[in-house]
Amino acid sequence: MLIEARNMSLDVPDMSQQLLIGRRRRLRILNNISISIAKGESVGLVGESGSGKTSLGRSLLRLYEPSEGQILFDGEDITHAAPAALKPLRRRMQMIFQDPQSSLNPRRSIGGILEGALRLHGLDASSTAIAALLDRVGLPASAMGRYPHQLSGGQRQRVGIARAIALKPDFVVADEIVSGLDVSTQAQVLDLLRRLRAEMGMALAFISHDLSVVRALCERVVIMRGGEIIEEGRTAEVFAAPRSPFTRTLIDSIPLPEVRENWLD
Ligand SMILES: Nc1ncnc2c1ncn2[C@@H]1O[C@H](COP(=O)(O)OP(=O)(O)OP(=O)(O)O)[C@@H](O)[C@H]1O
Ligand SMILES: [Mg+2]
Repeated sequence: MLIEARNMSLDVPDMSQQLLIGRRRRLRILNNISISIAKGESVGLVGESGSGKTSLGRSLLRLYEPSEGQILFDGEDITHAAPAALKPLRRRMQMIFQDPQSSLNPRRSIGGILEGALRLHGLDASSTAIAALLDRVGLPASAMGRYPHQLSGGQRQRVGIARAIALKPDFVVADEIVSGLDVSTQAQVLDLLRRLRAEMGMALAFISHDLSVVRALCERVVIMRGGEIIEEGRTAEVFAAPRSPFTRTLIDSIPLPEVRENWLD
C-alpha cells in the first residue's frame, strides 16, 4: 500500500471553552479511521460538510499528527515523524486546494510560484522547465509573467495543479478543487486531472460533495459521517447497492441532469 491509516483518530483542542488555567478538553474530529490507498489508485472521500473529509486528507499527508493509531507512507510509519524526517516525503505527497486564490501567493508571478516549488525540492527550475509544466496543464508559456489575480478561476486551478504535479508526486489530495468554478470549467479541470493521472500514475484522494464527479473519477469511494467511515467499496458497487441508508440518501440526492432537462420541456 502507498498510504495507510490504521485505527487513526484525531483530537483537537476545544476552542469553545473559555479557559484561563488548566487544560482544554479535546474534541475528537476523526474516530478510528482505517483506510488504505494503493499506488496509482483514486479514492473519493465523500460526506456532508463537517464530516471530516479535509481533516482526513490533511492527516494522510501528515499535516496533522494523529492522536491515536498510525499513518504509513510506502510502508514507513510516519505517525509521529518530525518535520525533518517528513521533508523528503513532502515531495512525494501533495495537496491541491479548494481555493487557489488563497493558496497562491498574490505577490508572486505564476513563473515565480512554480519556480519556488521546484527549487525547494532541488529540481530543474529553468524557464524551459516551467514552460513545459504550464503546457502540461494547458496554459501558455506567457502565463509565467502573470499574477494570480490576472487569471480566471479555472486557470488559477490549473496553476494549483501544476504546482502539485511539478514534483511528480506519488500521492495527491485534491480537496473540493472545482467547487468554486462554473460547470463547464469544472469539467475541463477534472478532465485535466484525469489525464494527468493516466500519464503520471499518481494515487489520488479526491474530496468532494459531488457524488456524480466521484463516480466518474474514482475507482473506490469512502463515505464519511461524523468523523467516521461509514461505508467504503468499489465505486460501481457502492452506487449500485449501498449498504448504509445514509449512503442511499446521498446517492438519491444526486441531481439527474436528464430528468432536469425533461422538466424544462
Ligand atoms: N482545527 C480545528 N479545531 C476545531 N475543530 C475543527 C478543526 N478542524 C476541523 N474541525 C471540526 O472538525 C469537523 C470536521 O471538519 P472538516 O473540515 O474535516 O470537515 P469537511 O468534511 O472537510 O467539511 P466541508 O465539506 O465543510 O469542507 C468539523 O466539525 C469542524 O468544525
Ligand atoms: Mg473540507
